[in-house]
Amino acid sequence: MVMLDVRNLKVYFQILKGTVKAVDGVSFTLDHGETMGLVGESGCGKTTTAFAVTQLLPGNGRIVGGEIEFEGKLVAHGDIAMEVHEALKGANWLANVRAIVGRVSKQLEEHKADPEMTGEFHALIDMDLPVLEQLTAILGQPGADRESEELKQNLDKVVGKLVKGGAGIRRHRRRQRMADKELRAIRWWKVSMIFQSAMNAFNPVYRIGDQIAEALLVHKDKFQLFRCGKCKVNLAEGTEVKRPKGILCPTCGGIVLHRNMTKKETREKTLKLFDMVGIDRSRIDGYPHEFSGGMRQRSMIAMALACGPKLLIADEPTTALDVIMQDRILAEIRDLQRTLGIAMIVITHDISVVAEVAEKIGIMYAGKLFEYGSIADIFEKPGNPYTLGLMGAFPSIKGARKKLKSIPGSPPDLMNPPTGCSFNPRCPFTKDICTQAEPPTVKVAPNHWSYCHFANEVYAGKLREVT
Ligand SMILES: Nc1ncnc2c1ncn2[C@@H]1O[C@H](COP(=O)(O)OP(=O)(O)O)[C@@H](O)[C@H]1O
Ligand code: SF4
Ligand SMILES: [Mg+2]
Repeated sequence: MVMLDVRNLKVYFQILKGTVKAVDGVSFTLDHGETMGLVGESGCGKTTTAFAVTQLLPGNGRIVGGEIEFEGKLVAHGDIAMEVHEALKGANWLANVRAIVGRVSKQLEEHKADPEMTGEFHALIDMDLPVLEQLTAILGQPGADRESEELKQNLDKVVGKLVKGGAGIRRHRRRQRMADKELRAIRWWKVSMIFQSAMNAFNPVYRIGDQIAEALLVHKDKFQLFRCGKCKVNLAEGTEVKRPKGILCPTCGGIVLHRNMTKKETREKTLKLFDMVGIDRSRIDGYPHEFSGGMRQRSMIAMALACGPKLLIADEPTTALDVIMQDRILAEIRDLQRTLGIAMIVITHDISVVAEVAEKIGIMYAGKLFEYGSIADIFEKPGNPYTLGLMGAFPSIKGARKKLKSIPGSPPDLMNPPTGCSFNPRCPFTKDICTQAEPPTVKVAPNHWSYCHFANEVYAGKLREVT
């Protein structure tokens, strides 16, 4: 079973001027112990994707569409009313609304039969069912097979009142509270995150050691210590499975007792974490401003590892560091990942960083995954012009010497992205179709997908020389 399954994720930010489509239909999976690199220029939606997985989005950010499953359990579910409302504003709205309704009804059918799903998510999905029924009824009426102003208004009447004004805000908050309840159970404990700019991630008025210990204390019930009441031998620590009542000590047959971690024990564990990331134990009582950039980054890693997560998301873990420290931190992350066997998502704008640590890679641009697949294949035979651009912009240490080329222009404004393929103003291979239609996601090889009208040609190397 895959550990993390992100399907068609859409995260939009509401601002005064309109809607920022920060993540717009991103899908990927991650297995236990696997590392994926998420690469792209600044402002492409990488951090927003990570925040959606951990549900740490700012107040104006909403998971509008798609789903996230962690270990087979639903942890995020888009809002059909919001997704349809946004689709009605764009071109090809009827086809898009039909696609959304079709996809969500299929998902809801699957979820209704899911015995693993918890009460909160059942309630969330129950909120979507009446909306879905009304939309399906309108789309089934005669004349609903072509776009008309009347049809648009009828559809908007169903969803508009659910997303606009005070009622919309209340409905959104209710959904958020439900999802948050579920996520709190896994956040930091099963999924943890190294935040972008560790420099500012720590609270400046608390000691670093105390801040790490706090993460442990919050989840103290998950780290129970098991001890035999008779022979006083310490048994397992931090087991996820609750001890069944009356289990007996394997050595003496005495009854095993369990209790939560004490403050003293969390301090001891913090010291062990300091050893693990290579910070001297004597610095445990230091404040963030007394730590160097590399030490703060390491402390951030220690904090993220404190609860023994199964998935670690590292957002630009080496961006603020010099190259020597960058190399050391990368080597450390790689070692820790191997020894602890945790899955990781490494977010970076520097494609050479992921080459060192990841097994698969997702190239993000303007809220979409432009290329996704196994790292060996993508580095050997890229199938997307944007990936070619990124690769040409970073030096290779081992490869032949070549002149670095930057990608002309800058990423688009995600409130008004270009029509068709959002990379078209900057792409050296743009043709008419790129400005007219959204590209398909093409499977160019097993485990390798590219979002481009000419994916197969780029993959085959036919388009590479043209500039
Ligand atoms: N709170 C917010 N309100 C409005 N727009 C936001 C907010 N946070 C991020 N964005 C926008 O979302 C887009 C993606 O941002 P982000 O995920 O931080 O990109 P990246 O991590 O790839 O640099 C950017 O265009 C950014 O301006
Ligand atoms: S679809 Fe067109 S503009 Fe977009 S990456 Fe492919 S060739 Fe370039
Ligand atoms: Mg970011």
